[in-house]
Amino acid sequence: MSEERSPLEQERLNYQPTLPNILSDISNIYLTEGGPTSAAGDVEMLQGHFPNTFGRPSVSFEQGASEPSHRPLRIGVVLSGGQAAGGHNVITGLYDGMQKLHPESKLFGFVGGPSGIVEKKYVQLTQELLADYRNMGGFDLIGSGRAKIETDEQLASCLEIVQSLNLDGLVNIGGDDSNTNTAVLAEYFLSNDCPTKVIGVPKTIDGDLKNHKIEISFGFDTAAKTYSEMIGNIARDAFSAKKYYHFIRLMGRSASHIALECALQTHPNVALIGEEVAVKKMTLEQISSEIADMIAARSAAGKDYGIVLIPEGLIGFVPEMKQLMKELNFLLAKESTESVANKLSRAAKTTFYFLPETIQKQLLLDRDPHGNVQVSHIETERLLIHSVKEKLQQRSDYKGKFKALKHFFGYEGRSGFPSNFDATYAYALGNVAAVLVNAGITGYMTSVTNLAQPVQEWEAGGIPITMLMKMEERKGRLKPVIQISLVDLNGEPFARFASQREKWAIGDHYRYPGPIQFSPESIANQLTYTLQLEGQAKVTKPV
Ligand code: FBP
Repeated sequence: MSEERSPLEQERLNYQPTLPNILSDISNIYLTEGGPTSAAGDVEMLQGHFPNTFGRPSVSFEQGASEPSHRPLRIGVVLSGGQAAGGHNVITGLYDGMQKLHPESKLFGFVGGPSGIVEKKYVQLTQELLADYRNMGGFDLIGSGRAKIETDEQLASCLEIVQSLNLDGLVNIGGDDSNTNTAVLAEYFLSNDCPTKVIGVPKTIDGDLKNHKIEISFGFDTAAKTYSEMIGNIARDAFSAKKYYHFIRLMGRSASHIALECALQTHPNVALIGEEVAVKKMTLEQISSEIADMIAARSAAGKDYGIVLIPEGLIGFVPEMKQLMKELNFLLAKESTESVANKLSRAAKTTFYFLPETIQKQLLLDRDPHGNVQVSHIETERLLIHSVKEKLQQRSDYKGKFKALKHFFGYEGRSGFPSNFDATYAYALGNVAAVLVNAGITGYMTSVTNLAQPVQEWEAGGIPITMLMKMEERKGRLKPVIQISLVDLNGEPFARFASQREKWAIGDHYRYPGPIQFSPESIANQLTYTLQLEGQAKVTKPV
């Protein structure tokens, strides 16, 4: 860490997130239980995988005399997967919550992600150490990683370390894949009579880890606002220079929540939504034709410039690409990259060889430890520019100049200073994790809801992680995974976008959100459209 702090860094270190009223006195909270829960799918198979933790009730916090009585807590914490602004605040929230529950409580950070638990690498996290990380972006306090914990040796090693540290709890801050580790460890510890409780915290900029009890994951707000600022700046440049089409790919491995939010914020000429492409079964050729139609129409109106937003997960929704990626994933789990192309089905082979060579190579890159294609390395924007250009060349009615520039906004949105929303939300989630461990429940994910209302009115509790799970093929085998939440094409955010997009395609209605603000409150605390619109819908249509 640099010795010279920027003025804003200093300012943010001193920021104190507001706690919701329900967490203001966390030594006086008791838990009420809802009914038993089920799963997102494949109930019987999941019951087999999680005999001890499946079907438990969701829990809500109420203020009042708490159970059980308080003792010093010992908790381990780990950051898993990609960075998301707010990760450090979950840790400081957890630490502060533990201190309030008992001032002799101790927090240990596993270093480098889940592999830190397996390899028993940890540091004690103290008040002094944490003082430099309050409201800071990034995961650099203890680092992160994507290791999947699944082998008998890995599980046994985790058991050994939590037992030797005598941990009451292990808090895993992660996305869908990482929180599968949470569920697996909770079950494993229980079946081995280990008292360590395992709690997950919903993290991912992708915004796809949600249900009615997890309204959003932390990190989405900061990422979407960071990208929106940059898109707005580029839109203004395009509108000034009037000579470029900017094809902007936005991070979000699978679901298109980020692209949709950024579209609502900036009003681009086109924003592709992967989930819609899947429902309409659109091929790459159809997508390119539609973009070419828009470009031709704008050109006829004297406009040879514009903005196209592309979610990075798009290719996973295009039917022929989805099939190709499924076959590649299966083959790459066993075969060398050189031999896979020849073993593809005829249809997948045709798709593969239709793609430019750079994209073919990118599709063959290593999978992550959970078996996912690393879409952040696949330049879909290059692919689309290439095919849109071809489409325009084929049109006799198009006389314009198509000069396209490509951009990828990904990593720059994950580690900035957390917005006020993410700083506050993540801090609350950390406090909730402390309460859940103290209450002695395991295999749960922290839940803070009512987020579209003022912070004071936020509600808190936990849900069993198995409730979010189903079985899915990974590396050629059926595995329990957390079901991600895709963009709801019947939901309010998509409806708002769909009602405006024709206007945005031809006119120039760009909106310029500007940089994230930390004050004044009226601007700094603006919620994303996604949360506002989904929150309003919840009030009118109870879930
Ligand atoms: P998580 O699901 O772990 O939160 O990560 C999400 C993400 O930021 C995706 O949007 C992106 O595709 C991916 O991580 C990039 O992974 P990496 O950091 O390993 O390159």
